[in-house]
Amino acid sequence: MWLGTQRVNARGHLEIGGCDALELAERFGTPLYVLDEDALRRRCREYRAAFETLKPDTEIVYAGKAALNRALCQIIADEGLGLDVASGGELYTALQADFPRERIHLHGVYKTETELQMALQADIGAIVIDNFEEIRRLHALAHTPTPIMLRVAPEVDAETHPLIRTGQRDSKFGFHWLNGDAYRAVESVLQTPTLMLRGFHCHIGSQISDLSAFVSAATAMVEFADTVRQRFGYIAPLLNIGGGLAVRYTPDDQPPSVQAYAQTLIGALREACEQYRYPEPALGVEPGRSLIAEAGVTLYRIGAVKQVPHEQPNLPRKYLIVDGGVSDNPRPQMYGARYTARHATRAAEPHTCTYRIMGKHCETDPIIDCAYLPETHTGDVIAVLTTGAYAYSMSSNYNRYPRPAMVAVRGGEARVIVARETYDDVLRMDR
Ligand SMILES: Cc1ncc(COP(=O)(O)O)c(C=O)c1O
Repeated sequence: MWLGTQRVNARGHLEIGGCDALELAERFGTPLYVLDEDALRRRCREYRAAFETLKPDTEIVYAGKAALNRALCQIIADEGLGLDVASGGELYTALQADFPRERIHLHGVYKTETELQMALQADIGAIVIDNFEEIRRLHALAHTPTPIMLRVAPEVDAETHPLIRTGQRDSKFGFHWLNGDAYRAVESVLQTPTLMLRGFHCHIGSQISDLSAFVSAATAMVEFADTVRQRFGYIAPLLNIGGGLAVRYTPDDQPPSVQAYAQTLIGALREACEQYRYPEPALGVEPGRSLIAEAGVTLYRIGAVKQVPHEQPNLPRKYLIVDGGVSDNPRPQMYGARYTARHATRAAEPHTCTYRIMGKHCETDPIIDCAYLPETHTGDVIAVLTTGAYAYSMSSNYNRYPRPAMVAVRGGEARVIVARETYDDVLRMDR
């Protein structure tokens, strides 16, 4: 599994963005998040080409929860995408990075008054309303016409991990339509002169490989929009179907291409519009993981190798203990997420050994339960692939570990885009 610009260089080392992985580890320390900037930019362009060729009025909005910092905001802005922010912190990051405000959407299941005020003051592209409280809060706070969307739970049960499934019947997100809430929300918004309804939004979950779930979501949204038209005469100019496309964490993962995703989604939207004789709205999509996950790699140094006496079914007995773990990537612990490792210096050698790669925290924090690698020793550097999404953004200071740095690599150059935290950073908020 070679992703983005990854390849083996003349020294037999893993190279990313023209930079030798071992040199990156030595120069910047480990653990180290490495962002393959060309891979990310290419993916942005692939998304734009796939959607805009078929449907030029598609809004592609990067879901910043996957990974966000000022440099990433600049790359995303440069590539002409919008930005979905899901908190005051993400919004603040976008504003500090001078991200074009009209392309920012604010999401969240509970936006505080302060967050809503920030969004109103910044005059962003849309606030995606999630509940009746927010309609009331915005009614009280907004004094000028404010673009909004309504998030709807489309009752689609996507096949993915339950913790990242979000569009089903018991979802906490959005207005449900089976109990009538979604219609009451539309009515309420249409009666609030300061709220300008741009359209409807849904997001059914993440790491979804089965495109039929997106077909169901698009169809359900048109059906919902059609009922709204019948009841209130409102025609939605925009339907946003959220993000969720799966990526490759292991060679077993076969996610659909962005082209197949675009064709299927646009096809489903058009078919449903025809069926309901609904004027075709603009389409919105919000990819997070599928834009950035494969562009990220985490480099770790092996601190110890040990063999445990007891064999667990299907788990290797040989452990590689690395200098990171649950604090820089909680996904294996949270979701049993699987990853693929590559040796940084013996990158071309056959993977003859199996190891369990363990973090160094005070819990059992496997990073990969069964990793195939060439023989690996203490002091070696390994790369865990596909860590661009939901790793740094979900990281913590557990065990008081400072967070690693992030470097963007491109054309043989490496630049630090997020500095490594120091012990003083860890102490900074202590009183
Ligand atoms: C509203 C919304 N949009 C987009 C996304 C991005 O999803 P993904 O990273 O799977 O593309 C999420 C993820 O949770 C989300 O909640």
